[in-house]
Amino acid sequence: MTDTASAGAAPEGGALSNLLHETRRFDPPAELAANANVTADAYQRAADDRLAFWADAAERLTWTKKWDQVLDWSNAPFAKWYVGGKLNAAYNAVDRHVEAGNGDKVAFHWEGEPGDTRTITYADLQKMVSQAANALIELGVQTGDRVAIYMPMIPETVVAMLACARLGAPHTVVFGGFSASALRDRIQDCDARIVITVDGQYRRGSQAALKPAVDEAVAECPDVRNVLVVRRTGQDVAWTDKDLWWHDVVDRQSTTHTPESFDAEHPLYVMYTSGTTGKPKGILHTTGGYLTHVAYTHWAVFDIKPETDVFWTAADIGWVTGHSYIVYAPLINGATSVMYEGTPDTPHQGRWWEIIDKYKVTILYTAPTTIRMFMKWGAEVPARYDLSTLRILGSVGEPINPEAYVWYRHNIGHDRTPVVDTWWQTETGGHMISPLPGVTAGKPGSAMTAIPGVSADVVDDAGQSVGNGQGGYLVLTEPWPGMLRTIWGDDQRYVDTYWSRFPGYYFAGDGAKKDEDGDLWLLGRVDDVMNVSGHRLSTTEIESALVSHEKVAEAAVVGASDETTGQAVVAFVILRGAVPKEEAQGAELVKELRNHVAHEISPIAKPRSIMVVPDLPKTRSGKIMRRLLRDVAEHRTMGDVTTLQDSSVMDLISAGLDSAKGDED
Ligand code: PRX
Repeated sequence: MTDTASAGAAPEGGALSNLLHETRRFDPPAELAANANVTADAYQRAADDRLAFWADAAERLTWTKKWDQVLDWSNAPFAKWYVGGKLNAAYNAVDRHVEAGNGDKVAFHWEGEPGDTRTITYADLQKMVSQAANALIELGVQTGDRVAIYMPMIPETVVAMLACARLGAPHTVVFGGFSASALRDRIQDCDARIVITVDGQYRRGSQAALKPAVDEAVAECPDVRNVLVVRRTGQDVAWTDKDLWWHDVVDRQSTTHTPESFDAEHPLYVMYTSGTTGKPKGILHTTGGYLTHVAYTHWAVFDIKPETDVFWTAADIGWVTGHSYIVYAPLINGATSVMYEGTPDTPHQGRWWEIIDKYKVTILYTAPTTIRMFMKWGAEVPARYDLSTLRILGSVGEPINPEAYVWYRHNIGHDRTPVVDTWWQTETGGHMISPLPGVTAGKPGSAMTAIPGVSADVVDDAGQSVGNGQGGYLVLTEPWPGMLRTIWGDDQRYVDTYWSRFPGYYFAGDGAKKDEDGDLWLLGRVDDVMNVSGHRLSTTEIESALVSHEKVAEAAVVGASDETTGQAVVAFVILRGAVPKEEAQGAELVKELRNHVAHEISPIAKPRSIMVVPDLPKTRSGKIMRRLLRDVAEHRTMGDVTTLQDSSVMDLISAGLDSAKGDED
């Protein structure tokens, strides 16, 4: 954390006034409210007896042995939930639905990027998972062994995860866009003995090999016994003596397998997430608490009606969003989901809307970065499709700026659908702060309040709760079922990273503000906070102000050191498609945008310079890498670009830097 991160004592003036301008409110649609899974009384019930509330929520699962105690927090911050309970994750996700007579229900409408499709029912899934589990047993996988999964968005990825879960073998899914060295580090850190992968994947209309990265990684992982390879693209691949084709080993297995029950605290998976420094953190999630949390939130926040809804989390399975809301929660709740392999613009920019139209999707869950990309492409693209089945829209991953929220609600939801802005983290396992679609009158840009059963607060430097209208650090003040249990192999790092800044509280690393009603506005990572002439400014707010200008599609703001003001605001903007080229390059536009920020927030927040860029550096999960933009803004040699989705954008931005200098005044 940097010195500038001491939010909470922000001086009067500018910093948060943009938010105070936001007066739009969207009440829940009457019909949704009348039939909502969760109504307002849930908050009170949870507040009256939090553990009884979570005990009720755990009844969403089938346990072979009931727990003796809901929470054991005696060894804080090491939590045990549903102590003594036993269950099987894959049985809960799959088998019990088949046993209940829902075997023919579609679990996934899968859509491949080239246009091939597969319909997978719960009965299909049960057979596939059983076969894969039997195959893993044949390969010597035992309860507790780790299995690494490096795969694209195909059904076998879900099957592989569930097969591991069925055997009590924690999986670690490594996003298919990561490099060989990232894969190697993760395999080594959790000591995986089996790797499951594919020959290649489809990406923007072409075949991208995945197997060579596995070969390179596994060459340095002598303890990996076998690599199981699913054939997806059919492209040629090199072969080693550890490699086995999935179809050779899995397809000949029995389609039945009797699941064993595991302790509620049995490890379910390890998901790596980057820390501010050092090696990635292996976030450990266990079984009973995690599954309860994701199943409850999927039911409450998305109001899922498994009989009628078609649910689509448009994220990658390689991230926690995919784990929780593509795989575990929808399956546990017996829902029908859409799963799409490719990118939103392959083969055309209307692909997502075509999919919604085709499968009659009712709930869509995606990230603000994607919504802003759609804004850039223009509202006329979704307008060509029938989106009338949509009833709830979700957002996750970053603060959603009010303009993107309103655009999403209007152009995708046709002003009928609530937008649920869900704040959570890899570490929290599931949603923590979010509106409830049948209860909350939404404010664009606010994640509103902690969901029932979760306790969040905003505190100052001293750990004191701030009043309404003030900003500070977001903390979680009580343990929750989906919480990470530790960092794999590093209990001390777990304590230091999350539990030492404010004793007794989990520190999320995010800044937040309570508005006059006490509703929560997320302000980005505290490391990104800027300090301009002693005013603490949130990058999120200035970005929101820029995006509220009709010509701006996306913005990234960083603080660059400045002799006079300590730090100065430097902005990078992507313009909407319709802005003519001559105008985009002109000084007039920059002036207009600077004045717009001054008007929307305060003159103190006026960017020192604004650079129009074709693209922004983003991580593969879509988060803007402000660190690299700071390097550009401070004329430094660029730092590590290896985790960038597309490292060429930095060359473009650097090349344009000289022309931006004249903007400073
Ligand atoms: O800064 C917050 C931001 O994303 C971080 C967590 O990132 P990750 O572990 O990759 O998980 C992403 C999927 C849950 C948070 O610390 N973040 C996530 N959702 C929101 C958000 N910031 C504001 N509003 C959100 N809805």
